[in-house]
Amino acid sequence: MYPDRVVSGMRPTGALHLGHYHGALKNWIRMQAEMPCLFFVADWHALTTNYDDPSQIEASTWEMVIDWLAAGVDPSEATLFIQSRVPEHAELHLLLSMATPLGWLERVPTYKDQIEKLSHKDLTTYGFLGYPLLMAADVLIYRATQVPVGEDQVPHVEITREIARRFNHLYGKEKGFEEKAQEAVKKLGSKRAKMYNQLRTEFQQKGKEDALEQAKAMLDDAQNLSMIDRERLFGYLEGSRKLILVEPQARLTESSRLPGLDGQKMSKSYGNAIALREDKDSVTRKIRTMPTDPARVRRTDPGDPEKCPVWQLHQVYSDSATKEWVVTGCKSAGIGCLECKQPVIDAVLKEQEPMRERAQQYLDDPSLVRAIIADGCDKARKLAQETMRDVREAMGLSYS
Ligand code: TRP
Ligand code: SF4
Repeated sequence: MYPDRVVSGMRPTGALHLGHYHGALKNWIRMQAEMPCLFFVADWHALTTNYDDPSQIEASTWEMVIDWLAAGVDPSEATLFIQSRVPEHAELHLLLSMATPLGWLERVPTYKDQIEKLSHKDLTTYGFLGYPLLMAADVLIYRATQVPVGEDQVPHVEITREIARRFNHLYGKEKGFEEKAQEAVKKLGSKRAKMYNQLRTEFQQKGKEDALEQAKAMLDDAQNLSMIDRERLFGYLEGSRKLILVEPQARLTESSRLPGLDGQKMSKSYGNAIALREDKDSVTRKIRTMPTDPARVRRTDPGDPEKCPVWQLHQVYSDSATKEWVVTGCKSAGIGCLECKQPVIDAVLKEQEPMRERAQQYLDDPSLVRAIIADGCDKARKLAQETMRDVREAMGLSYS
């Protein structure tokens, strides 16, 4: 009943690297052409772990937004904004917190993991425990249907779904709902009304999911319903509640196939990353000094691509002819490692060329970035305010 909508956020980490591009960003760029997308800088989420040193947040935010734009995230297609500039996220977070059992948050697998992993920090804070709930608010406030995330974030989308369900259950009650829903059924016209009732019974009594889907599709087609009746009929299908918040689906970002310079996962903290807009000389130098198969001590020693991180880069960047050239040349010592690396260097530089170009205008005139974000914040805020009106009303806070 609510249209498809994508929401995703990224913590402001400063300059992004090619791993981010081949993982999350390519995915965003694909989705922005398919349906309405909202992408935001999760600056409050950064504070949950970095509350003791907020000095980098602003600079990191602007740098990251420039990287989004450089990579091809298009502000004429997607809405780009900063979480803390849409304070309604905080209001929803607060209201959801009233009805969120502590145990749900304590049991999120990342919670204890992160506390252990980041043991040099004191993360036994209220804010850090609430991390997944804040994320739930980010998503639910836009009634997002899809959330592109990496594997590590899937439990957070799962808890978001549970929170939406609980909210609808607790607050979707409406006086005389049953009667109003039945009135709405009549408005479907006798043929459709009969079908609706049949499908509803099939779903509720026999749990037939396809009956539910069929009924939803029918409601999507029914032109003569008001928004409120439509909402009731959707809710009535699954129970006797209004659906105020939408349960989103996780859309898994396939983890980047792009390894770092040492063959491990690319990460700034491992020191094995190439930044999205790294300068050409530095890219060339980094790839030239990458480790290769340790068996190739001398130029005349044959090697094995399977033992070489350069080969993994060829997997991403090279066509089959080049890859064949690598395998043959490496195993026979027919090519040297520097020779082998050159096509990778060329391909990375070529991939980065349009990114550097797109970024230049924003570096020359930072007010462009400010304007894109201001516009995105306005748009996001309007959507957030619509949901908050319904949420406040459902929770008895509309004071009209
Ligand atoms: N927690 C996410 C991460 O660390 C970032 C994030 C915050 C997010 N809010 C979100 C992602 C809402 C998707 C939807 O990657
Ligand atoms: Fe690696 Fe290429 Fe050298 Fe073989 S020739 S070890 S694949 S860099």
